[in-house]
Amino acid sequence: MKAPTIAVSDDKPALLGGKPVNPSPLPRYNMIGAEEKKAVLEVLDGGELSGFAAQPNADHLGGKFILAFEADVCAKFGVKHAIAVNSATTGLHAAAMAMDLGPGDEVVVPPYTMAASATAILYTGAVPVFADIDDQIFCLDPRSVEARITPRTKGIMAVNLYGHPAPLFELKRIAERHRLFLVEDNAQSPLATLGGRYAGTIGDAGVLSLNRHKTMQCGEGGVVITNDDRIARKARLVRNHGEVLVRALGIDDIVNAVGMNYRMTNMEAAVARVQFNKLESLNAPRVRLADRLRQGLQALPVITPPVVKPDATHVYYFFVMKFDEKAAGISRDLFAKAVRAEGFPLIAGYVRPLYLEPLYQRRIAFGKNGFPFSAHPGPLDYSPGICPVVERLQDHDLIWTGAIYPPLTDADADRFVAAMDKVLRHRDALVRANAGLAG
Ligand SMILES: Cc1ncc(COP(=O)(O)O)c(C=O)c1O
Repeated sequence: MKAPTIAVSDDKPALLGGKPVNPSPLPRYNMIGAEEKKAVLEVLDGGELSGFAAQPNADHLGGKFILAFEADVCAKFGVKHAIAVNSATTGLHAAAMAMDLGPGDEVVVPPYTMAASATAILYTGAVPVFADIDDQIFCLDPRSVEARITPRTKGIMAVNLYGHPAPLFELKRIAERHRLFLVEDNAQSPLATLGGRYAGTIGDAGVLSLNRHKTMQCGEGGVVITNDDRIARKARLVRNHGEVLVRALGIDDIVNAVGMNYRMTNMEAAVARVQFNKLESLNAPRVRLADRLRQGLQALPVITPPVVKPDATHVYYFFVMKFDEKAAGISRDLFAKAVRAEGFPLIAGYVRPLYLEPLYQRRIAFGKNGFPFSAHPGPLDYSPGICPVVERLQDHDLIWTGAIYPPLTDADADRFVAAMDKVLRHRDALVRANAGLAG
């Protein structure tokens, strides 16, 4: 199959002064419209911008807009409890607190994720232990997870990354075998499925995000979902100053019930509800654009498109590929730079493996004495090299784009592939020019 060719009078790479395949900036993702406006106006007209109060009555639960949003989330995911919070970060912390974590405990986490998947654990006094990932779907590798388990391990934080579920059933089996909890950071994969079940519902708790960059958004927001009454109760206490509520609510289990203000406002809840109820139609164009990119990439064998496991569905928060530098004859970083010059956002690598950040290298989080690392009797290994697959992907193999959202069209996907094809056709000139610049 041939890569789509786009008629351009000047085929010289944009990085070398030619005309870019796409000369104008791509539109931003924005699916906020009339329904969301109407929902917010209803809140404003009612005058109650938040229904929460840290009182041992119904106000503790946030009021009608929060409850309506949570009820819809429960119905769609088929779970007993949804706890709306003001971000996935705070939702992850509430979920981690609900696992009764504390100093000296360990939780196995992937290092290739947004920082909050691991800091949520630090905020309980426990420490993350980083396991390597599978280099096809970029989520935790169950073999590496199992190898990281120690007598101090209390749980696994799986991250359903880029829109694809982690190997949740294998992780669940490991968790059950070792009596661990399994929390799913599902910020990036809402309504992705595995074995016919929604990601986020296979572990003991799952966490969704509605931040501005996500497929569904309300500005900032998150939700904890769970079937477990005890986890839900504790997450609700953490959301809303639990320490002043436990006595009046007659709650004896006060471990980690010390709360924060993780409450979602009514305006966010109103927007979140509208967005959530059309999530399928927000995911669908991403899947279509991903399929179109995948088709086009058949002509560029040095690029491996995202893998979708046979029992999974992918919701394409990002479109993440592997690049074969050797076969391509151009470094990944130069390739990505040249494609960006053609007017398409192609990024080399995702995040620095978390354990390489100063937080873990220097083991300084809270206070000057290195808590919570100092409260862990060790050994704890955050050395470079502990997760070789992650490091290889970050340094050499992984490229990705977020440009798979409406109003982008099939024609845009074709032009994106054409830009990649153009750069590959001119690899020698680009490599020579780059060597000249570097020399
Ligand atoms: C995997 C993952 N976890 C957690 C978060 C945190 O989400 P929020 O911004 O809603 O706190 C994000 C956001 O980018 C994420 O991608």
